[in-house]
Amino acid sequence: MATTTTTTTFLYALSAVVVITLVSLTSVSNACPPSDRAALLAFRAALQEPYLGIFDSWKGYDCCHKWYGVSCDQESHRVADINLRGESEDPIFRKARRTGYMTGSISPAVCQLERLSSFTIADWKGISGPIPPCIASLPYLRILDLIGNKLTGELPADIGRLSRLTVLNVADNQLSGTIPRSLTNLSSLMHLDIRGNRISGTIPRNFGKLRMLSRALLSKNELNGLIPESISYIYRLSDLDLSLNRLSGPIPASLGKMAVLATLNLDGNQIAGQIPPTLISSGISILNLSRNFIEGYIPDSFGPRSYFTVMDLSYNKLKGRIPKSISSATYIGHLDVSHNHLCGPIPAGSPFDHLEASSFESNDCLCGKPLRPC
Ligand SMILES: *[C@@H]1O[C@H](CO)[C@@H](O)[C@H](O)[C@H]1NC(C)=O
Ligand SMILES: *[C@@H]1O[C@H](CO)[C@@H](O)[C@H](O)[C@H]1NC(C)=O
Repeated sequence: MATTTTTTTFLYALSAVVVITLVSLTSVSNACPPSDRAALLAFRAALQEPYLGIFDSWKGYDCCHKWYGVSCDQESHRVADINLRGESEDPIFRKARRTGYMTGSISPAVCQLERLSSFTIADWKGISGPIPPCIASLPYLRILDLIGNKLTGELPADIGRLSRLTVLNVADNQLSGTIPRSLTNLSSLMHLDIRGNRISGTIPRNFGKLRMLSRALLSKNELNGLIPESISYIYRLSDLDLSLNRLSGPIPASLGKMAVLATLNLDGNQIAGQIPPTLISSGISILNLSRNFIEGYIPDSFGPRSYFTVMDLSYNKLKGRIPKSISSATYIGHLDVSHNHLCGPIPAGSPFDHLEASSFESNDCLCGKPLRPC
């Protein structure tokens, strides 16, 4: 009797020990490796976040467990995502009733997180210094989103090594230098946003190698040279924004033959030549060519395929009449042909009924509704 009880107790105790050991073993093997934890702590040490305390949770051994903005791969238990957004719906922001602000810089220590797949430090407004060039050696990186900081320096020269990269967003920083030649090697890239920096030089001629690209947003930089013809090979491209740069030369006619291009913003450059007729009968619905040196006539190639929510041709050197075919467009929501050298009667018809005089002002001799009668 007594022996049985002892044995049972012993067995219970033993199994409890086994269970506890197993549990603790599991939790140890579930924890992030000390090297990942050390890299995160070094990354954190280079940043100052005075208002929200987003790094307060970065304590304890397991950086895969409840560290704000950090997540790990379920199987490898390596750090896979850093997701720190300065503008977010997270309760931490609502409680503080403010958006985020951080100073400091991005430590090259992040490059030791060799399994990092998504790296977002967005809209912190005050983070300065360069993008660590070693970022280009993170083989699993898919998302790099550093929008809305004060980063300076250049895009890493060998960024093209990031063969899995789908999103590259460095908009609204103070980056300079040129577009690295290797960039066109980013064969998985779908979303490129470098708007609002000081990036100069030309758009690589072989830009069209970026076959997966659906959005190419390059506006508000100091880019010069020609619009590469090869862009029109990117058959998934739906949004091309090259506005507010110093681009020159003609608009490639092939841009009007692209399968899904819906937005084409080339405004605020030094583009010359004529408007390719293809643009007018394409699937483009937002077309802004304002403030360039575009000359010649508005192509008489409008038709039922022409559906424009925005067509802004203002501040160019267009001459002649507004073509009659424009009345056959299915829709023109906002038309602006002001500040050109157009002449003759404004066509009648549904695309024009709702337009105001300001859409036509400052031309040579346009007349008819909504301007003075001819
Ligand atoms: C682009 O990739 C190819 C093939 O991997 C390589 O040979 C080439 O050097 C790369 N180009 C640049 C500019 O890095
Ligand atoms: C077109 O571009 C010009 C110049 O950048 C800008 O001022 C204008 O607001 C744009 N037009 C529309 C309709 O967005």
